[in-house]
Amino acid sequence: MMRVAQPIRWTSEGVVMLDQRRLPAEVIHHTYTDYREVARAIGEMVIRGAPAIGVAAAMGVALGVERSAARTLEELKTEFPVVCDTLARTRPTAVDLFWAIERMKQRFAEVCAGTRDLVRIRAAMVAEAQQIHLQKKTDDEAIGRFGAELMPAEGQVMTHCNAGALATAGIGSALGVIRVAVEQGHKLHVLVPETRPYLQGARLTAWELVEGGIPLTLITDNMVGHFLKTGKVGAIVVGADRIAANGDTANKIGTYQIAVLAHENRVPFYVAAPTSTLDLSLASGEHIPIEERPAEEVTHFRGVRIAPEVAAANPAFDVTPARLISAIITERGVVRAPYTESLRRLAATPAPRSAAPAAAPAGHTKSC
Ligand code: MRU
Repeated sequence: MMRVAQPIRWTSEGVVMLDQRRLPAEVIHHTYTDYREVARAIGEMVIRGAPAIGVAAAMGVALGVERSAARTLEELKTEFPVVCDTLARTRPTAVDLFWAIERMKQRFAEVCAGTRDLVRIRAAMVAEAQQIHLQKKTDDEAIGRFGAELMPAEGQVMTHCNAGALATAGIGSALGVIRVAVEQGHKLHVLVPETRPYLQGARLTAWELVEGGIPLTLITDNMVGHFLKTGKVGAIVVGADRIAANGDTANKIGTYQIAVLAHENRVPFYVAAPTSTLDLSLASGEHIPIEERPAEEVTHFRGVRIAPEVAAANPAFDVTPARLISAIITERGVVRAPYTESLRRLAATPAPRSAAPAAAPAGHTKSC
């Protein structure tokens, strides 16, 4: 069995998170007992990656209800939207965050309609957050199985950023595909772009692959074209933060240029993501909100200035047009163009086992 990192856990002490800012140098965990701390941890990148921040938000909502000082249902109902709003305001691009909060809101409404007993309401919210975490794990395993069939029997594959266990709280989406393929006997070697400026590739994906015993070569982002041109890369598989109705996909900055280079060099380019990453309320990727992060991440490296005092841009994500995507691998199967039809059909198919609502509901970037 490969070693799989666990970025987040619900415990009786609180929500325990592996601090991803400190990896790979240090493996440090924090225990959060207040939903505001969970919100801060998401905003400050203690935990990151689309499905993982969804799990964190769900656990934050559960924590807010479980630790609330409310003595009546009315008091709890007044506090609840504040908890949801605080968690929803953390990061704007990954729709899994809003999907998870929406699920917690639905469960809260359901359970409050059936009982006024605060003990039962608190227990139900904790159970729902744990159910969401479990679902992310089963989603990843299914994505891994579907995606492994698309991986070459041997040779080099490429990913970008970190779409591993650290990013999903399961076995990973893109890295889950690679993991399952390797477990099935594919002889893969992973090319890992470092992913400037936050270095999720160099720090996190490289660490996870080493832990999992999967061979890799770390490259800088500007080496991607060179390696794709050699003809020795059999496939590229990346994760996603939000997939619009037409298949346009927001993912870590730099994904778009990799997709263009893949197209130019005829390398299949796959997106691996759970259906909770679909946002069918957006017709195309141009409507996806893109997070702008601090300029210091570009002008500084570990607190040391590496550029003169100039303006620096730092969009955290870009949008890859659907026409550059060979297929989207989800827990319900693999879909291909035309995506407007295939994604709509996919979202309408029943979820395997756990009852997950397909696709984020409209209006999810608004706070709850
Ligand atoms: O800014 P981050 O580290 O949260 O960005 C993460 C990514 O872009 C991942 O590729 C994406 O969330 C997919 S993770 C399964």
